Amino acid sequence: MRTVSLPPVRPDAVIVTESSSRDGLQSLGAIVPTEAKIHLIRQLISAGIRSFDAVSFVNPKAVPNMADGAEVIAGLADVRDGVELGGLVPNRRGLDAALEAGVDTLGVLTAASDTFNLRNINATVEEAMERIRAILDDTPDDVDVRAYISTITHCPYEGPTDPDRVAALAERLLEWDVGWVYLGETLGKGTPADVEVVLEKVLAVAPPDRIGVHFHDTYGQGVANTHLSLQTGIRRLDSSAGGLGGCPFAPGAAGNVATEDVLWLLDGLGMEHGIEATAVARASQAFATEQGIRVNSKANDALMSGAAGS
Ligand code: HMG
Ligand code: MG
Repeated sequence: MRTVSLPPVRPDAVIVTESSSRDGLQSLGAIVPTEAKIHLIRQLISAGIRSFDAVSFVNPKAVPNMADGAEVIAGLADVRDGVELGGLVPNRRGLDAALEAGVDTLGVLTAASDTFNLRNINATVEEAMERIRAILDDTPDDVDVRAYISTITHCPYEGPTDPDRVAALAERLLEWDVGWVYLGETLGKGTPADVEVVLEKVLAVAPPDRIGVHFHDTYGQGVANTHLSLQTGIRRLDSSAGGLGGCPFAPGAAGNVATEDVLWLLDGLGMEHGIEATAVARASQAFATEQGIRVNSKANDALMSGAAGS
């Protein structure tokens, strides 16, 4: 397995992980050609993005757009220096496929709600924890693992989430030595009031440098929730260029908070991230136009219309 040495960054620099080629495409009905995915990631690397939640290794019948994960990783072989390519894996079989493809990081997943988890990966929360344990046992030391906890504020089927359950899961996952726990606000429904309660509970059992956040933007709360997370000391953020995406098992949920919107926030706060927002906006706009889908990002609209300069 290749090791990745990312360029040195200030300790307070923010690690923005780009999810558009995974979370952004997994719920699209139309199949996006492998070459288009590779081109999008290449453009985003050119824009300065160094960390990608690039693909997943899941049942292609459940998520047809992720059937070509290995081909996408192979198509990026010449641009991988200093770039982390991640693969989401729901089980041991996914782990084997991800390692064979040569990913740098793994995403493993559970949720704070049994019903969502069953619909998503056919496992209760505890069954998913057992799967994660088995994956970790067989993961080589040089492959970093992010553990996602979905439905941190709301479940599409069970309603509001118990924040104590989120914190208890985070604590166990960190004891198992995952690199980071990523808190997934899967529905994009939670406001900073909801997220604050969860973060308080989680940060009581985990240091902020072991926590990442993954906000969907259905109700336009993604930037506010991101800002709140930064104020707690969290420096790992997932986002999706153009706000593309959603989860096929969370009906009605929009994409992740847009990378362009997050970058505008980080620039305003003077926080280092190494990414050029306008280049991201161009890449996501070109991709969306080609695939006949809509960009969902205020900053993208502004940057592409030239409003930022006026
Ligand atoms: P299972 O029920 O244990 O699977 O897991 P199984 O062993 O019973 O097999 C069922 C079928 O899946 C079989 O195919 C297997 O071959 C196949 P069939 O015989 O029916 O044709 N299979 C696989 N194929 C390829 N790769 C694999 C694999 N494993 C089994 N790794 C499983 C079921 C988890 C595989 C399935 O439910 C699945 O793939 N679900 C898709 C989950 C998914 O991709 N969800 C979206 C990502 S999660 C997300 O977006 C949330 C996140 O963004 C954070 C947030 O927003 O909160 C991360
Ligand atoms: Mg998601």
